Amino acid sequence: MDRTFRILLIPGSLRGRSTNVAVLRTAQSLAPAGSTGLLFEGLADLPPFNPDADAEPLPPAVADLRGQIRGSDALLFSAPEYAGGLPGSFKNLLDWTVGDDQVGSIYEKPVAWINASPRGAPNAYESLRKVLGYVKADIVESACVHIPVTEVLINDEGQISDASVREPVSHSLTELIRGAAGSPSGP
Ligand SMILES: Cc1cc2nc3c(=O)[nH]c(=O)nc-3n(C[C@H](O)[C@H](O)[C@H](O)COP(=O)(O)O)c2cc1C
Repeated sequence: MDRTFRILLIPGSLRGRSTNVAVLRTAQSLAPAGSTGLLFEGLADLPPFNPDADAEPLPPAVADLRGQIRGSDALLFSAPEYAGGLPGSFKNLLDWTVGDDQVGSIYEKPVAWINASPRGAPNAYESLRKVLGYVKADIVESACVHIPVTEVLINDEGQISDASVREPVSHSLTELIRGAAGSPSGP
């Protein structure tokens, strides 16, 4: 690889002390040499999805989301489960990705997730898999991991110091980069 591999880290929680955001911040700090992680921070700014608004000029927050996705080589998600499904705000983000037909959009992009839920969140991740399949994203299975995280593990930097979390996070990143290298839409 002759340039930096860019991973966009997309959280599905708006909570201030979010475990999912903490896991992605941890991933950002653990990006292997030759790669960089960028945390997406615009979840709360996205308007409710409306196909009528999916036209130029796009709402600025939507244009920003799509621009950040197109500017990345892979996506790494981490979201909670609410009431047996994906959080509405996160599904809203995913809905806004569907209409992007420009080169580098989520279509065929290498993607993975870190499920940080102590309760398993099976429905949320089944639903995420379904949506990612709908947009034909390239799910890198070996990079999709379940690492239960509770709020007490979050340190003063908003990350996780515990090696039992950091090691599988590192593994996920390594696998995502490796999987993307073999992906048709990889770098
Ligand atoms: C209203 C509400 C509903 C929830 N429903 C579920 C659920 O259906 N399944 C589950 O595994 N966890 C559920 N949870 C627990 C959250 O997924 C869990 O607290 C998660 O760690 C929150 O992620 P965050 O720390 O990134 O905000 C629920 C939490 C709340 C507040």
